[in-house]
Amino acid sequence: MKMIVAVIQPEKLDEVRQALIDTGISRVTVTRVTGHGRQEDIDLYRGQEVVPDLLTKVRLEVALNDAFVEPAIEAICKAAKNNGGKIGDGKIFVLPLEKVVRIRTGETGGDAV
Ligand SMILES: Nc1ncnc2c1ncn2[C@@H]1O[C@H](COP(=O)(O)OP(=O)(O)OP(=O)(O)O)[C@@H](O)[C@H]1O
Ligand SMILES: [Mg+2]
Repeated sequence: MKMIVAVIQPEKLDEVRQALIDTGISRVTVTRVTGHGRQEDIDLYRGQEVVPDLLTKVRLEVALNDAFVEPAIEAICKAAKNNGGKIGDGKIFVLPLEKVVRIRTGETGGDAV
């Protein structure tokens, strides 16, 4: 099992969710976050370098059985990309996932995902 964490542009949320649903993935946690990617430019204020502002992003967390990982990545990339790809389109992190427990039934592992 893996946990996919994707940080995307907020306006792409609906499209990314639809793309995941089309891939058979509907369970997701969504959080509004702020973040900063690679330093594209140095912010200057009155000639002084300042810490750049954080940008509003959306973070999706999706726990998946292994077979769904690559299709999910493909779906997210396709839906989150702005015409051909733009700076700040987002990033996907794939983490190992040790255990999942469905609280209602006590099921664990792949059955609980
Ligand atoms: N190494 C990182 N660690 C933690 N969060 C990150 C990292 N890289 C990106 N993020 C998060 O992902 C968001 C989107 O990143 P972004 O798409 O700007 O990546 P990038 O590496 O700067 O690529 P690009 O050059 O296309 O902009 C950031 O605002 C930040 O929240
Ligand atoms: Mg960036």
